[in-house]
Amino acid sequence: MVVWSKLDMSVKLDTGEKNPEMISNRSFRFMALSMRIHDFLSPFIEKRIRQFGIEKGMIVIDYGCGPGRYTTKLAECVGNKGKVYALDIHELAIKTIRRKIEKYNLKNIEPILIDGYNSTLPDKTADIVCAIDMFPGIKKPTDLLKEIRRITKKDGILIIDGWHETRNHQLPRSVIQKILDSEIWEIIEQTFDHLKCKPR
Ligand SMILES: C[S@@+](CC[C@H](N)C(=O)[O-])C[C@H]1O[C@@H](n2cnc3c(N)ncnc32)[C@H](O)[C@@H]1O
Repeated sequence: MVVWSKLDMSVKLDTGEKNPEMISNRSFRFMALSMRIHDFLSPFIEKRIRQFGIEKGMIVIDYGCGPGRYTTKLAECVGNKGKVYALDIHELAIKTIRRKIEKYNLKNIEPILIDGYNSTLPDKTADIVCAIDMFPGIKKPTDLLKEIRRITKKDGILIIDGWHETRNHQLPRSVIQKILDSEIWEIIEQTFDHLKCKPR
């Protein structure tokens, strides 16, 4: 985890104002490979997802889906009647998800390449939005939290973390502070590695 965290920080951001968080293709590929190795050596994703409260038939958004290590598992959880929107600003993320959809014939995932903090989804789309391992790097956290709030149902839930910044079994205080500063989300649960929030 730490490897690509450090890498992200050292990478020259390359796509200007609209997507200030975008990493280079090379860094993305390196990150995806590190994730595969990490998940092979210590699988933990299914165990994590079990804590999210996802049920069959739900609409889930994987915000900042990356190479989709959570996306396909989320799709299994929501089943055929549910749907997972996989959103990312990086074209390689969307290409990887498309490849997985084709390879495993997954019909309940819709990948969407987004620009800036505009997800393009309609208001109140999601039962659950998962923003996993992406929030600490966001340059305008309140803008992102507003967009997520817009696309979350009134009784929907945001699962958010500070994953690779998590230290000493604690979420970084900065993640919690950014959520509180936004004044639009209420933290309803805090575990060692994620926050569950509901719209205020
Ligand atoms: C460290 S990866 C995590 C991927 C995945 N969530 C996981 O945990 O395996 C962070 C991802 O968030 C994406 N990202 C960064 N800023 C974003 C934004 N503003 N909107 C959507 N995705 C973003 C990056 O392109 C990258 O694919």
